[in-house]
Amino acid sequence: MKTLVLVFHPDLKGQSHVNAALAAAAEKTPNVTVRDEYALYPDGKIDVKAEQAAVEAADRVVFQFPLYWFSSPALLKTWEDEVLEHGWAYGGDGHAFEGKEFAVAVSTGSPESKYQPDGDNRYTIDQVLIPFDGTAHHIGATWVKPFVTFASFGISDEALTEAAKNYQEFLSK
Ligand SMILES: Cc1cc2nc3c(=O)[nH]c(=O)nc-3n(C[C@H](O)[C@H](O)[C@H](O)COP(=O)(O)O)c2cc1C
Repeated sequence: MKTLVLVFHPDLKGQSHVNAALAAAAEKTPNVTVRDEYALYPDGKIDVKAEQAAVEAADRVVFQFPLYWFSSPALLKTWEDEVLEHGWAYGGDGHAFEGKEFAVAVSTGSPESKYQPDGDNRYTIDQVLIPFDGTAHHIGATWVKPFVTFASFGISDEALTEAAKNYQEFLSK
């Protein structure tokens, strides 16, 4: 299965600790293509045709990003708004994602204990990610359970190495 990992981190090669390690692990995984979207589009102007071609060549698409304000970094939203065109992703002849798997690989600052109904963040991570689940269903893709790296702040080298190994397994399934 060919997997396309679209990484949305505003500073993957600089400030990022967790997503940089996960992206590096993804790059070393057979049949996985990684695109650093902020590096490709520093001015925010997305090449829609190039993105659609990358999706069409894949069997599975993964959005990888750090959770920002219970959502994604802004370029991911722009990507959805511009790339998921009517007549391509949905509506009319829009079946580009049919038969493909769709997943999210997200990192959070907060630990999992805060993503509970009685925790500081009120909602589980599956609830926070409902817009992506809904989008996957709307475009006819098969939603895969998200890969989550909780508690990114001060994550130990051992825990990050383990997360990277688990990510490679997730991408190889
Ligand atoms: C603008 C901004 C908003 C954030 N919002 C959240 C949030 O809503 N929930 C959370 O758990 N962490 C939040 N964080 C923490 C990031 O998710 C965390 O720093 C990131 O996942 C670490 O990945 P990295 O090392 O690749 O940057 C936020 C960080 C930033 C910079």
